[in-house]
Amino acid sequence: MAKQEDVFKTIIAHAKEYGFVFQSSEIYDGLSAVYDYGQNGVELKNNIKRYWWEAMTMLNDNIVGIDSAIFMHPTIWKASGHVDAFNDPLIDNKDSKKRYRADVLIEDEIAKFDEKINKEVAKAAKRFGESFDEEMFRKTNPRVLEHQAKRDALHTRFSEAMNANDLAELKQIIIDCEIACPISGTRNWTDVRQFNLMFKTEMGSTADGAMDVYLRPETAQGIFVNYLNVQKTGRMRLPFGIAQIGKAFRNEIVARQFIFRMREFEQMEMQFFVRPGEELKWFDHWRQTRLRWHKALGLGDSKYRFHDHEKLAHYANAATDIEFEMPFGFKEVEGIHSRTNFDLSQHEKFSGKKIQYFDPELNESYVPYVIETSIGVDRMFLSVFCSCYEQQDLGEGDSRVVLHFPPAIAPVKCAVLPLVKKDGLPEKAREIQHRLRFDFTCNYDEKDSIGKRYRRQDAIGTPFCITVDHQTLEDNTVTLRHRDSMEQQRVDVDRLEEILSDEVSLNSLLRKLL
Ligand code: GAP
Repeated sequence: MAKQEDVFKTIIAHAKEYGFVFQSSEIYDGLSAVYDYGQNGVELKNNIKRYWWEAMTMLNDNIVGIDSAIFMHPTIWKASGHVDAFNDPLIDNKDSKKRYRADVLIEDEIAKFDEKINKEVAKAAKRFGESFDEEMFRKTNPRVLEHQAKRDALHTRFSEAMNANDLAELKQIIIDCEIACPISGTRNWTDVRQFNLMFKTEMGSTADGAMDVYLRPETAQGIFVNYLNVQKTGRMRLPFGIAQIGKAFRNEIVARQFIFRMREFEQMEMQFFVRPGEELKWFDHWRQTRLRWHKALGLGDSKYRFHDHEKLAHYANAATDIEFEMPFGFKEVEGIHSRTNFDLSQHEKFSGKKIQYFDPELNESYVPYVIETSIGVDRMFLSVFCSCYEQQDLGEGDSRVVLHFPPAIAPVKCAVLPLVKKDGLPEKAREIQHRLRFDFTCNYDEKDSIGKRYRRQDAIGTPFCITVDHQTLEDNTVTLRHRDSMEQQRVDVDRLEEILSDEVSLNSLLRKLL
């Protein structure tokens, strides 16, 4: 098994063991691709959301937030194109009765060529040592070139079939590549069919005439259908934005990589309404602004990259993803899309209501253009969690697991620990905790040795431990232990609020954005 896969499994186990993420309905053997956040997970998730929300709505005079309902009128999804076009191509194996995404089966086949190439490169790097020139090797080694040519040919054929929505060709590729079902091992496939990803349910009792409604697959449409409400009641002038955080639901067929692809997940979306013709300028602005937001967390600038879309949806005139380096490769965390006036125009058409902006400077009305920024909370959580996880060797047979969360989003900011459970130290520690808890999420722990307690806090990423000892009773000082350096300093109890605020407040993070 690849090493990175092992690392990822260890991270998932850690997330469960320390109360971050649990499988949904675990005592009933779980529900696939649905997860619950535990006592530490919910704090981290809330802090990520607060960082996004405040960066959007507090740092921008012209962005306001809303919270629209999950249920919406079904015609909205007709207008947005989700009823007709929000599909995945599926194929069934007739022997195992298992269902797969045809595109994923082919992508996995393409990835096998990448793996073969990487193996050749790794073997050669070992053989040649320091003098190894990887670039030259990739360009000239016959085996690498052969794999690369096969990979490229398959990729081109696959892209063309996807772009043309050619389901018969997708099946033919699966047959030509001799792809077998991992369960039955056979190649006894059905035809490829389109499968809509929206969850449907009924609203109202059948006697009243129930109406089919969908669980929203994105939060964005709740913003579009409220555009006029917000613009008029907030007397907003273009350019302006509407932000929203909320749950979205997609019946993902291939659900894997933990919380990366879920059936119930959360999005943070912002639609920025602009004058037609100015959208590409604003697209570039939001592309840069969003990357800055990510990088301010300090997870490592090299972990991000843009992936500009070559093939655009019919309504978009520019689109890019911000990808993050997960243990399983660079993956999309956020999308930034220039959606033209497609959505508002569609809602105008389907609702019969005029959805326009009167521009006083141009003295004309038009349907605004839109730049969308759309980020998954759970993917953001995963990128933070994976990149902050470290198994640290401390030498002399000692080690620890530490989560180096940026202090501003760490679930617990500090832990107050009495050195021993007697001599009035617990009482003093409680007094300090009760003082700090108004401003910071603050744990209290008196069980086990102080070393074990430090390790427990490291494992949930607490930036500071405050140890109360006998000297505290004499001079009102404590030791303040820093998570990353493990250094300890003696500080006055009265200075704790000030020191912690500087280090852990969201303000310090938000200020980096300006
Ligand atoms: N309104 C645009 C939109 O929804 P998207 O690329 O389909 O665009 C935006 O989704 C973001 O939502 C993605 O970048 C990803 O972070 C997150 N996301 C999408 N599907 C997801 C899923 N099944 N599980 C977790 N996050 C998901």
